[in-house]
Amino acid sequence: MLAGGCGESVRLAMEILTEVGDIYGAEEMAKIASAHTVMTPYRDIMDAGVEICERFAELGAKYSVPTTLDPAGMDLQRWREFKIPEDYAERQMRIVRAQEKLGGIPVWTCTPYLHGNAPLLGQHLGWSESSAVVFANSVMGARTNRLTAVVDMAAAIAGRVPKFGLHLDENRIGEILVKIEVKPKTLTDIDYPAIGYFIGKQVADKIPVLTGIPYDVSTDKLKNMGAAAATSGSVALYHIPGVTPEAEKLGSVLQKENCKETVELGLRELRETKEEMCTTRAGKVDFFAVGCPHYSIVELAKAAALLKGKKIRRGTEFWIYTTKHVEMLAKRMGYFDIIESSGAHILTETCMLVSPTDIYGFETMMTNSGKCAHYAPALCKTEVIYGSIEECVEAAIKGFIP
Ligand code: F3S
Repeated sequence: MLAGGCGESVRLAMEILTEVGDIYGAEEMAKIASAHTVMTPYRDIMDAGVEICERFAELGAKYSVPTTLDPAGMDLQRWREFKIPEDYAERQMRIVRAQEKLGGIPVWTCTPYLHGNAPLLGQHLGWSESSAVVFANSVMGARTNRLTAVVDMAAAIAGRVPKFGLHLDENRIGEILVKIEVKPKTLTDIDYPAIGYFIGKQVADKIPVLTGIPYDVSTDKLKNMGAAAATSGSVALYHIPGVTPEAEKLGSVLQKENCKETVELGLRELRETKEEMCTTRAGKVDFFAVGCPHYSIVELAKAAALLKGKKIRRGTEFWIYTTKHVEMLAKRMGYFDIIESSGAHILTETCMLVSPTDIYGFETMMTNSGKCAHYAPALCKTEVIYGSIEECVEAAIKGFIP
């Protein structure tokens, strides 16, 4: 493949992968079951990214394993309604066309594991998108490093990744014990991103092992917790004994001799973390953004129930980000009409951070996402308030937080 016997695009992909492998001391390549690429939003990959996508497409490259696409830099259907500049949209559509030629699966989401790219325990993957990587490694027990843009495309084309880091058994053992000392039954949706945010700050890139998470924790809670942990730190794998597949019991993933540190999270730490996730606490809020990572149908149903029969305050925007598939379900189940008639909107195939949200001039954003709360001040140029979906809806009706 590296010698060019499989064509120029494969040769180029292998050149990229072997360079990365050399840097990290990989001794061999692993065949991957699937890939997920972030070479998708124009806002992030810019003109150079457009050219790379087009170059691979011109070379006749094809993804050799199922490869899902991360969100695009705008709602691919409603972009005019949301006043995306024409020249921006034109560049975004060049990425769309190139990814179509390459054979990318157009889910345009950061939750590919909910949309057809659901790997099995122990499978090697070539994924990027930090929130998806931590979910795949931890909740599904698959194996991927946090790849970067371009390397993820190379992996998808070659069907291989250099075998280092989280592909190796010895690098998947827990390193830090995180004891969650809050009554499991009292933990609510909004606590999970805060727990993740706290963990990311404490452990950076180490592998935490969490105790105190209830056994019946939902997929969405783990999705939102992992996304926050991958944001405030660079957590790519965590274990929860009795919950995640590699951690049957505590001793399966954490031995005394490997435990570098023990961290405790109680009510005080949880409260302080939530405070830290806000840049302001009260006043006028002009933008509500939820769905980071993309909302599941379960989360969307909850938002619809809260918004039913209500009206969002004039001069306030309430945007919910999700996938086309979830939107289709929402239409069939009546949630779409409920949400849109409240004045809120469902945007698909994009999100508040990878689209040019700064063009609207919003001043204060409220979100229930730990990842979004972290990045919004820099990327959306807003103040940020972290709060539950219930608090978001209540504030959106009033237009402010007293
Ligand atoms: Fe997904 Fe965008 Fe958040 S890609 S994880 S919704 S920043």
